[in-house]
Amino acid sequence: MSLLFSPLRLRALELPNRIQVSPMCQYSAVDGSMNDWHLMHYGSLALSGAGLLVIEATHVSAQGRITHGCSGLYSDDNAAALARVLGFCRVHSAMPIGIQLGHAGRKASSERPWEGRGSLKDGADPWPVVAASDLPFAEGWPVPAVLDRDALRSIREAFVRATERAAALGIDLIELHSAHGYLLSTFLSPLSNRRTDEYGGSRENRMRFPLETFAAMRAAWPAERPMGVRIHGSDWTDSGWGVDDAVAYAAALQALGCDYVTVSSGGVASAAQIPVGPGYQVGLAEAVRRATGMVTCAVGMITGAAQAEAILAEGRADQVALARAMLFNPHWPWAAAAALDSNTALPPQYARAGAATWRGTIPTGAA
Ligand SMILES: Cc1cc2nc3c(=O)[nH]c(=O)nc-3n(C[C@H](O)[C@H](O)[C@H](O)COP(=O)(O)O)c2cc1C
Repeated sequence: MSLLFSPLRLRALELPNRIQVSPMCQYSAVDGSMNDWHLMHYGSLALSGAGLLVIEATHVSAQGRITHGCSGLYSDDNAAALARVLGFCRVHSAMPIGIQLGHAGRKASSERPWEGRGSLKDGADPWPVVAASDLPFAEGWPVPAVLDRDALRSIREAFVRATERAAALGIDLIELHSAHGYLLSTFLSPLSNRRTDEYGGSRENRMRFPLETFAAMRAAWPAERPMGVRIHGSDWTDSGWGVDDAVAYAAALQALGCDYVTVSSGGVASAAQIPVGPGYQVGLAEAVRRATGMVTCAVGMITGAAQAEAILAEGRADQVALARAMLFNPHWPWAAAAALDSNTALPPQYARAGAATWRGTIPTGAA
């Protein structure tokens, strides 16, 4: 029996296997509301056979969106549009569905990736950005306004309101986004946080706002439903946030009732050299798992069934999240199940293509 295809329980939610569809922004919403693109995209992924589908970074305010096309959960219209997508997926799929909630901080007001990824220029309807300190992400990016206590309270409340909307929509799991250089990671990293109040200075102070936000959301989220966090694992610089900090942050989240962490990295220091390669962030997940015993999810260039199985078998993580591989092949879990002599859910319409059919000649298209 493969570990990858063994179940994983998080509070009352049983995930049928340990493959997570990693959250992936689609940059295709209008005023934060999803549309037909999302029906197609999530409809396809809901048939993927993965154990958990995490919906893209969904922002808790219009100002907190990365781009004009990012999804949000800050209005009744946003909630109705998301309800349509969820309803569509659930007609044909029993797959557990989670959502990532975030705020882009100083990387808000950006161009979509296919428009260049820079900050929005005059004429492209840019909006003011906010952060822990008045340090721009990179040269040419806007200087963020520093959040005072009232502004921090209102952002925390926006996270809580989005949590309540997600609960009302029947979403199975929420994940707080505190990585990739977005708002909460700018509090964590000493490179982007130069505050002199109780939210800056020591690591304990820099973790304060993300932890307060987590605690407020956890209190608003139903007790039987799991809540996780995508954590910042490293700035990949000598002087920045590192894996020991990630371990301390995960332990503090665990004490507040966090059910799992996904360990990602980068995105704060624009000039950092990230050693991207197969499984390049697995070591960060492993350090967190070994130090805290938390349910830990590894992410980043995990592309093969044997690779994923080995990460679990070696005790380096409890779950793997795949992003680009799931876009490349939305039925990746079917091929992985066939390779590992296991099974995963197929809709009855597709049952004749199941793992047992292939007797070793898996049709990946690679050979
Ligand atoms: C199109 C795209 C959109 C992404 N959007 C998000 C997002 O909304 N939230 C997030 O935490 N990571 C996001 N990521 C990062 C992925 O979740 C993942 O961490 C990263 O791509 C590395 O994994 P991979 O090698 O399996 O692609 C995105 C990645 C891609 C390719």
